[in-house]
Amino acid sequence: MVSVRIVAADAGIEEAKRRLQEGRLVAFPTETVYGLGANALDANAVARIFEAKGRPSTNPIIVHIENGIAAQTLVSNWPETAERLARAFWPGPLTLVLEKTNAVPPIVTAGGSTVGLRVPNHPIALELLCQTGLPLAAPSANRSEEVSPTTAQHVADSLAPYVEDLLILDGGECKVGIESTVIDVTVTPCHVLRPGMVTNDMLRDVLGILDMDDKANPIVRSPGQMRRHYAPSVPVTLLPSLVLRDMEFQREDGFILLDTEGGTSGKNMLLNPRPDRVISLPPDSEVYARRLYSALRDLEARGVTRIFIEEPPMEPSWFALHDRLRRAATPKEGIG
Ligand code: TXA
Ligand code: MG
Repeated sequence: MVSVRIVAADAGIEEAKRRLQEGRLVAFPTETVYGLGANALDANAVARIFEAKGRPSTNPIIVHIENGIAAQTLVSNWPETAERLARAFWPGPLTLVLEKTNAVPPIVTAGGSTVGLRVPNHPIALELLCQTGLPLAAPSANRSEEVSPTTAQHVADSLAPYVEDLLILDGGECKVGIESTVIDVTVTPCHVLRPGMVTNDMLRDVLGILDMDDKANPIVRSPGQMRRHYAPSVPVTLLPSLVLRDMEFQREDGFILLDTEGGTSGKNMLLNPRPDRVISLPPDSEVYARRLYSALRDLEARGVTRIFIEEPPMEPSWFALHDRLRRAATPKEGIG
């Protein structure tokens, strides 16, 4: 029998713990995006994640743990850089890539020798981790390549057609809204594999030096670096406001604009015949991040055939958002 249920987190937490212990799937909220969780030590349970997401077996999964001590039980080496980063940013939106021990099944790490570890900053996620005592493998709870879910309903919309047995714990809207920063601490200097709201400046403050250069690393070390990722099903185009202002649009076009003062951008910029297809987000990178994925999903649900996004400011606090917007705007034929 097909069973995908959304349950309020408080009411569902006991059942969720039992399910995880039985090797079944539970989607749960974190501060970044919703995760599709399973017992990371149970290869069969983790296989269910890959199946539900349609995820290539070459893409490793992040393991969530309750604290830095639990992290150290899964790795063969805990460098001083890891200690410093964990102290500074855990619990929080930072994933550390470290050398794993045999306790972590190969399926979790796509056969690789490293594992991505993160302590999420969310009471529901932490309660699941503490009370089951299990490390939880949990990628974002969406189909592979899609926009990550920031509400329980997004998870159901994305996965219900593909899973037979899933409990979704509803913890409301995710506060950060885009996926964690991923940093490889097995190399010197540490290398940022995926930018996030723990910014390069914040990492540099703790580490001193940091390697962010993609070109130094020709091998795709993290499939989240693939060019197309985090993408809606309709074409997305990212444009500066000056260009957008002078373009002609179709009735079915949708827009994500910056709600800035002065009228050069924001809702007034476009004489769109369908104002319900214009979503304005504030020019504050934290609020923008929290609302971006919902905005993309809302526009798709409203039936737009193309999405135009006004380019946000080129400032360090917007770096991770530029990364996600670029990926969302990569055409399907651009998959590397
Ligand atoms: O915020 C997040 O990170 C969310 C929440 C649920 O924690 N999770 C998430 O997982 O975004 P996922 O699987 O959608 O993205 C994980 C990224 C992928 O790009 C994956 O390739 C990379 O982390 N990753 C995981 N383990 C890795 C490893 N051992 N080495 C390199 N990259 C790794
Ligand atoms: Mg993902």
